[in-house]
Amino acid sequence: EKGGYDHFMLKEIYEQPKAIQDTYRGRLLADKGIVKMSGIDQNLEKFLNANRIIIVACGTSWHAGLVAEYIFEDMARIPVEVEYASEFRYRNPVITEKDVLIAISQSGETADTLAAIKLAKEKGAFVFGVCNVVGSSIARETHAGAYTHAGPEIGVASTKAFTTQITVLTLIALKLAQEKGTLSQSKYHEYLAELEAVPTKVEKALLSNALVEEISETYKDSSNCLYLGRGYNFPVALEGALKLKEISYIHAEGYPAAEMKHGPIALIDEHMPVVVIATKKGHYEKVVSNIQEIKSRKGRIIAIVTEGDKAVKELADHVIEVPETSEGLSPLLTTIPLQLLSYHIAVMRGCNVDQPRNLAKSVTVE
Ligand code: F6R
Repeated sequence: EKGGYDHFMLKEIYEQPKAIQDTYRGRLLADKGIVKMSGIDQNLEKFLNANRIIIVACGTSWHAGLVAEYIFEDMARIPVEVEYASEFRYRNPVITEKDVLIAISQSGETADTLAAIKLAKEKGAFVFGVCNVVGSSIARETHAGAYTHAGPEIGVASTKAFTTQITVLTLIALKLAQEKGTLSQSKYHEYLAELEAVPTKVEKALLSNALVEEISETYKDSSNCLYLGRGYNFPVALEGALKLKEISYIHAEGYPAAEMKHGPIALIDEHMPVVVIATKKGHYEKVVSNIQEIKSRKGRIIAIVTEGDKAVKELADHVIEVPETSEGLSPLLTTIPLQLLSYHIAVMRGCNVDQPRNLAKSVTVE
């Protein structure tokens, strides 16, 4: 049932091209310039009249929410707040009938996310779910929703759920952008075409596997690791760090690259591996100067770059290339080598990759 792979996690990492395709099938009609999503179509006014969108989730799903914040604000010009469900529900949040709440959950059973939904409903907000498990509690409790259609995710570490959540949220943002006229027609069509091409580009990103395995050998005995990214790739840095800590038990932290100088830079020495996402379209020059700062303090740099990159190649200890795409879609590609890195390091350390200690696939306790 692992389809020839050693672990479910690796199988699910490799399923991503197909999973993303399954997510947009029937919804993304790139040549017609249409995004079709019944849950949005039937509730369009709610979204168009919303004062803001509040996204609630936990863990990896919260990271997908952070990516969505950049996407919604950039494409559809709707203010977005992203909240840990557990913090949101306990702090007497301001919620009105003009708010749309989007709950993101792979399992659809996360207790805190479910409770946040109930609270928002009581206050009159419109609640939309992005779930993977069909018929799950969250899918039933929300007013409307869109499934990710990623297929069962068995590995405790979330991989294909993350990329398919981002895919669904991107489709929603594009649809709203087109309704509101907040994206130029050329940009809109470019995004549709690029999104359609993502599965092929994820295939290419997966070709980094052998190189990532080699890099993993070098860093498997590290006790710390820092992940840096900016803009759309800041949440990817958080997600990369979460993946490493949960399955390899190496302490890892994700940071927005520009925040490094406000504290974490003090940690950098020759024993500190720093994973930097430095793709061409996201504040590239600024990230390159961060890389220089790390290098001058002897940090070891593993950089995720756009195919054909030159500047970072000269500075970094290791570079892993991913194909070029629109800036807003780059998390779907940059996240792939980070999943593989955590996987290989965990395997080399003899960890139980599919069932890490102390973790459960769905957290139904508060
Ligand atoms: C990380 C992971 C967890 C879940 C979190 C939310 O790899 O799996 O952080 O993302 O427990 O779970 P769902 O999405 O089922 O609500």
